[in-house]
Amino acid sequence: MIPPDRSDATAVRRSLLRWYRSRSRALPWRKSKSPYTVWVSEVMLQQTQIETVIPYYQRFVREFPTLDRLARAPLERVLELWSGLGYYRLARNLHRAAQEMVLRHSGRFPDDLTQACSLPGVGDYTARAVLSIAYNQPFAVLDGNVARVMARFLALRGNLHQPDFRRSIEKNLNLLLSRRRPCDFNQAVMELGQTLCLPRSPQCSSCPLHRWCRAFRFHSPDDFPEPRPRRQAEE
Ligand code: ADE
Repeated sequence: MIPPDRSDATAVRRSLLRWYRSRSRALPWRKSKSPYTVWVSEVMLQQTQIETVIPYYQRFVREFPTLDRLARAPLERVLELWSGLGYYRLARNLHRAAQEMVLRHSGRFPDDLTQACSLPGVGDYTARAVLSIAYNQPFAVLDGNVARVMARFLALRGNLHQPDFRRSIEKNLNLLLSRRRPCDFNQAVMELGQTLCLPRSPQCSSCPLHRWCRAFRFHSPDDFPEPRPRRQAEE
């Protein structure tokens, strides 16, 4: 596997960011770069589809427009607003983390990765997403959609459960990351995976990356990434 060279990487980034500027969906959490609302959206999106999250997100930030308001709310009310999204542990952690931020971080989501990761329920993925989207810090964000885009782009076989595959995707994603616009870059790759680079029947002709995409040029995009091998049925 050969990563794109430096001039290609610049052209890829430019094409991706141009596409994102003109085609991205106007999702409600993209209206503001408030670290608080970005964090709420990232937690809701961890386990739930975008279409389902939208009304929950809107109700939640209407009732708790600031981190301080969330921290002061009774947990029961937070859980009521979460009701239907499932994964109530996420809501409990959100509430606890908001209280901790009020106590220890001047009521703001920290702009430091280690501090962010020390908050209840904030793992590496969430911390990188918030720091890149809200603070424009140069962290790449890797989820299943992003992995599919990158596996096809590089024609890399494997799946995210394989450490070598994950390492290779992370390394190449970091090389490609826009250091100037990590916020838009990360959301652009996610958006590509959600709208064009779909698991089945990807819409390659509309893709801003197809000129550089190895799966499109040399293989069949449907073959990437490889599915996780099924456990052998018990005899
Ligand atoms: N999934 C996780 N974060 C997202 C975001 N900011 N936009 C769209 N999908 C996402």
